[in-house]
Amino acid sequence: MQRLLFPPLKTLLGSQSVRLLVPRAAPRTQCGCSCGIRRPLRSGQYSTVSEVALQSGRETASLPSKAADRVVGRWLLVCSGTVAGAVILGGVTRLTESGLSMVDWHLIKEMKPPTSQEEWETEFQKYQQFPEFKILNHNMTLAEFKFIWYMEYSHRMWGRIVGLAYILPAAYFWRKGWLNRGMKGRVLALCALVCFQGLLGWYMVKSGLEEKPDSHDIPRVSQYRLAAHLGSALVLYCASLWTSLSLLLPQHKLPETRQLLWLRRFAHGTAGLVFLTALSGRILLIRDGLFSLHFQVESLA
Ligand code: HEM
Repeated sequence: MQRLLFPPLKTLLGSQSVRLLVPRAAPRTQCGCSCGIRRPLRSGQYSTVSEVALQSGRETASLPSKAADRVVGRWLLVCSGTVAGAVILGGVTRLTESGLSMVDWHLIKEMKPPTSQEEWETEFQKYQQFPEFKILNHNMTLAEFKFIWYMEYSHRMWGRIVGLAYILPAAYFWRKGWLNRGMKGRVLALCALVCFQGLLGWYMVKSGLEEKPDSHDIPRVSQYRLAAHLGSALVLYCASLWTSLSLLLPQHKLPETRQLLWLRRFAHGTAGLVFLTALSGRILLIRDGLFSLHFQVESLA
């Protein structure tokens, strides 16, 4: 079992951490003198992780809180990287105006892209039923459709990978007891947020597929839902990165001076302004909004 357990642990923690000290239920240590008598460890004393606890016939790998924090911290760092990837892919989807090319959404079913000419034509025909094709893209060829479809497909598939990157390790760490009480709450919140992000994605797409007979606008997703989709992605990214770094970096030892307090307030204020700017940008300048704003100003002059 140790052979099975330690190679993956070594890869995750690094060989040094595997030699870290772990607390144990009632292990025994050598007496300080040469008598060889083994005494139980007092609380706060540690034995090496290679002496994995064998309790009631079941082997459980217990990690010291520091080593567990490091694993959880690295996992959340990877998760925030996957969210950053989704943000980039989402931006590409938006810039290439591909967001409304997939007109239905199943979480597990239909994950495989169309392969034959017939399947592609069926997919294209589905797209042709919706306002974006009818009003904006009626001259689109199948080859052009394939391009926008693949853009949106890669964003959605990446979204699934992000979901799995959060949920599977979270369940594993939870079972292993590597999350303390506070961390359990945070990890639950992050997993809920990633699910919410996916649901919001589909809710946003739906707004661009609806027929609006009285509207002369170019079919597009609701800018409020788009802003919410971007906002929750930013919150997910920052919360994952923040939690990860709070586990990986040592606590600062600077004295709590007034200057430090001001610096902290300034940093928080700047972050808040960046967030508001990103969201308001989505609400005001969606897709060709910049052009229409310019057009409206021109016509008023
Ligand atoms: C972890 C998962 C996801 C993250 C982090 C994420 C993030 C983003 C971001 C940051 C954007 C660009 C927003 C902008 O530039 O204003 C975007 C766009 C988009 N996302 Fe997601 N997304 C995720 C999952 C999904 C899912 C599951 C769907 C669909 C079911 C989806 C549908 C879309 C669409 C259609 C766009 C383009 C909107 C447009 O037409 O302008 N996203 N996403």
